[in-house]
Amino acid sequence: MSMLEIHRLRKTFASKKQKVVAVDDVSFTVQPGEMVGLLGPNGAGKTTIIKSVLGIIQPDSGTLSVKGFDPSRQLKQLLSHTAAVLEGSRNIYWRLSVWENICFFAGIHGISVAAGKSYFEHLLATFNLKEKRDSEVRLLSQGMKQKVAICCALAKQTSLVFLDEPTLGLDVETSYELRDALKDLVQNEHRTVVVSSHAMDVIQDICQRAIIVSNGRVIADEKISDLLALFESRTFKLVVDGAHHPELLSELNQMVLPVSSSTNDRQLILKVNLPTARDLYALIDLLREHGAELETITQAAPDLEKVFVNLVRKERERCNGTL
Ligand SMILES: Nc1ncnc2c1ncn2[C@@H]1O[C@H](COP(=O)(O)OP(=O)(O)OP(=O)(O)O)[C@@H](O)[C@H]1O
Ligand SMILES: [Mg+2]
Repeated sequence: MSMLEIHRLRKTFASKKQKVVAVDDVSFTVQPGEMVGLLGPNGAGKTTIIKSVLGIIQPDSGTLSVKGFDPSRQLKQLLSHTAAVLEGSRNIYWRLSVWENICFFAGIHGISVAAGKSYFEHLLATFNLKEKRDSEVRLLSQGMKQKVAICCALAKQTSLVFLDEPTLGLDVETSYELRDALKDLVQNEHRTVVVSSHAMDVIQDICQRAIIVSNGRVIADEKISDLLALFESRTFKLVVDGAHHPELLSELNQMVLPVSSSTNDRQLILKVNLPTARDLYALIDLLREHGAELETITQAAPDLEKVFVNLVRKERERCNGTL
């Protein structure tokens, strides 16, 4: 059975002035043990999807389930398998200490301090909060509060975890701690995580799959490696020893390859867009013929951010009727 199933979900918000289609016919499933990135520009519908699963928002139509439990009829059972940290909200008690908060939230989920103690301590260590164990949450920094909220959600030890913008406000080091902690959750605890974020490097690092939404619709649902392969470019940067190779440059231009070149004190830097992988051999043969010593060669690697921007831009153009 899938961990999460969303089928033809639709949600509109209507005010006197206008009607907003926040989620428009969204379907996807998540299998146990997956870590899935839910991506999309501001207002794409990510939080609305998550809130619909949690029963906070009543969808207009469509079906939802977590481990087969439907939020409209079996919310209690559904929530016993699901934990979430929603964007910007740190639903923790500011006058309780870090430890008390963790024990409280795990407790209302049926996990006693005796049963959960060693796991709670593991969470404190993982999130570097050991020193703050007995501090009142109100005295912690923003990022630390965020980490406590995540710990409280994880302490419930549910099989499905939603994290909506978990890296917001975290410093670089803490963001890396969180990445490691999330990888650990999936690898060693076999949990399922759906994480929404605008931090593409985080998603590229921790998720195997990305679901991209735009204007309330799913515009891509693919393995991240496949998304990256889709946008793989054959642009190579070659650094050649010696700045003066006039004949080489003129021959390169005759090869009808799109080449741009620049020089510094002692090197010639070429950027070449190769139509096929074979052209790379021809290029290297040419360098050899001219006795030009190749110092480095690198391929411009696509990253998830570029893929994301490309897909969302295309979708916008399609919606505006320019494609
Ligand atoms: N309670 C609400 N009442 C009216 N409109 C809403 C409500 N919640 C969300 N919306 C609208 O629904 C759309 C989707 O919002 P949502 O919060 O799901 O986007 P998001 O993808 O989470 O964006 P972000 O990346 O900014 O968090 C937006 O146009 C938003 O203005
Ligand atoms: Mg949101």
